[in-house]
Amino acid sequence: MNDMTRPPRPHRELSLLERAALFRPATVAESASRFVPSELEAAARLAPVPAPVPAADTLAAIPPEFLAHGDDADDFTPPPETPDETRIDRGRLAETGMIVPGAPIGPLAEEFRLVKRQLFVTNQRLEDGGEPEKARTLLVCSARPDDGKTFCAINLALSIAAERDTEVLLVDADVAKPDVCRRLGLPPGPGLLDALGDGAIDPETLVVTTDVPHFAVLPAGTKTAMDTELLASVRFRAVITRLLAANPRRLIVFDSPPALAASPAAVLAMLVGQVMLVVRADRTPESEITAAVQVLDGCDHIGLLLNAVSFVPDRQRFGSYYGQEPTP
Ligand SMILES: Nc1ncnc2c1ncn2[C@@H]1O[C@H](COP(=O)(O)OP(=O)(O)O)[C@@H](O)[C@H]1O
Ligand SMILES: [Mg+2]
Repeated sequence: MNDMTRPPRPHRELSLLERAALFRPATVAESASRFVPSELEAAARLAPVPAPVPAADTLAAIPPEFLAHGDDADDFTPPPETPDETRIDRGRLAETGMIVPGAPIGPLAEEFRLVKRQLFVTNQRLEDGGEPEKARTLLVCSARPDDGKTFCAINLALSIAAERDTEVLLVDADVAKPDVCRRLGLPPGPGLLDALGDGAIDPETLVVTTDVPHFAVLPAGTKTAMDTELLASVRFRAVITRLLAANPRRLIVFDSPPALAASPAAVLAMLVGQVMLVVRADRTPESEITAAVQVLDGCDHIGLLLNAVSFVPDRQRFGSYYGQEPTP
């Protein structure tokens, strides 16, 4: 559908800017990340989020059999490997402040539950609107590198995987800076780029099934000089269609390249049902949010996710952006 035929989307840009104006240090100081729903009123109602659980507490709460390496290494007998399942490194997830499958629900997991609910609402809307395939695809993007795309994509994917009736495939499409496998403790291997570059490869054969139920990964794959062209190729649509058809209960989450780097994020946005735009509350200026939204305009459903960089130990981070003195 081109711009002439696309139905009008009143208020969208305006509400994004208005939402950006809601980013206040008092609201985001202690939070890890927060989804801003499509309704401005709902955004205004968001309650403060408790501080994230420190990694040590999270680690202590995980049953030892779930940890790749525990404190009691001598007593620890790892469960038998299932040949088809690759083990996710829960210890690494905990150390980097991510959701840990099998651990008790912490504040971060609660936040991503909210994000997930909002995602499912849009998903349903797309299905009802006659776009069942697109409804099952989500791009996690941001204006710049290091805004937290991979952090949010993995956490959201793990949160979706906890649903009883849904499977999730996390695709690393940030091929210039692939990070998904490293963050999960998975070995790098062939993946998206290989499937895009060779029509004879069935992308489903490259999907890595993990020992986290309902959670699979497609690595970025083998780098070539043609990466950008491959991501922008028409074959991408065929690869997505194949991955969706391979498992009817599957949702696909793409970890995207940044929108404002020279990158094919715009092409990816046209292929998916929803875009989640990760915004660093302490850093992303409104002008960049607006520019990123324009780049991603091929998608009709763009949500903002405020990522409030809770890993910075003091509040100095708000000083420069908001022109305030750091609080002691
Ligand atoms: N909310 C958060 N809490 C803790 N660490 C975070 C958060 N958001 C991002 N990070 C960390 O910031 C760094 C950059 O995030 P990353 O997800 O790699 O960015 P991107 O994928 O956009 O380049 C990573 O080390 C990541 O773990
Ligand atoms: Mg990344």
